[in-house]
Amino acid sequence: MSLKDYYEDSYKTEGSRDLSELQTEALQSTKGLLHFVEESKSRFLPDLSWSDLKSIEMGSGLGGLSLHLARYGANVTLVDFSTTALKQAESIFSLEGLTPHTIEADLGLPIDSINQKYDLILDSHLLHCITSTPERSSYFKLINDALTDRGIFVAETMVHRKKLFVPDGFMFDQNYVLWQMFGDWKPVRKIPDSLDLEKEIIEAGLHISYFYYYGQFSFVPHRKFMDIPAEVLPASVRMVLQKKRNTQS
Ligand SMILES: C[S@@+](CC[C@H](N)C(=O)[O-])C[C@H]1O[C@@H](n2cnc3c(N)ncnc32)[C@H](O)[C@@H]1O
Repeated sequence: MSLKDYYEDSYKTEGSRDLSELQTEALQSTKGLLHFVEESKSRFLPDLSWSDLKSIEMGSGLGGLSLHLARYGANVTLVDFSTTALKQAESIFSLEGLTPHTIEADLGLPIDSINQKYDLILDSHLLHCITSTPERSSYFKLINDALTDRGIFVAETMVHRKKLFVPDGFMFDQNYVLWQMFGDWKPVRKIPDSLDLEKEIIEAGLHISYFYYYGQFSFVPHRKFMDIPAEVLPASVRMVLQKKRNTQS
């Protein structure tokens, strides 16, 4: 089973649930990150109102984070490789008479369908799902190309903290990739050290405008990592990236 099929199946299973319940959950689970997005917009794009702002959410899933922004009047686009996630997101938005633009695409590959510029690019937990170096380089290039000159990429991702609890059915390799057994081993998460993540971003040609390691926010990479002490789970990084500034006058 590929990772894409895995997500597709998970979203199909969720599809039997009540739509308003799914909507509440999608809004609730993204509320913490919403505050960071609001702060980042006030700090870096203070002159733009939400309704002036063009936003795109990468690996949106049900699009909870973007729904908050659409409620403020932002023009939002959702990107995911799961057809079902995007359909469910459209249904969730339609409960409020809102319609997101949607793009079905694999964000680890070069994509022609993302050909506009965005003031705000959101990544709520996608980056760590892109595991190989070529795919991550391609993703960072896509971000660089899609940002407006002053635009911001606001993301939360997981990073390694000295030790990681690895349950049965998973393995963690020397390249900081977490693998899951689905009949055969599949790479499911990249959990880099935060210093290596900074280096990777700089090498990708992006400017780091904000980068903060949140040791107190632990990530549960999969439900099989539930009820595990925080010290042996990944920590979080929140960041704001921009296009590299041209230093020449
Ligand atoms: C961990 S979930 C996060 C969902 C949502 N952003 C949130 O915060 O609740 C990762 C999402 O990214 C999507 N995804 C994973 N890898 C992807 C890829 N290579 N291209 C596009 N979407 C991907 C999955 O289908 C899933 O919806």
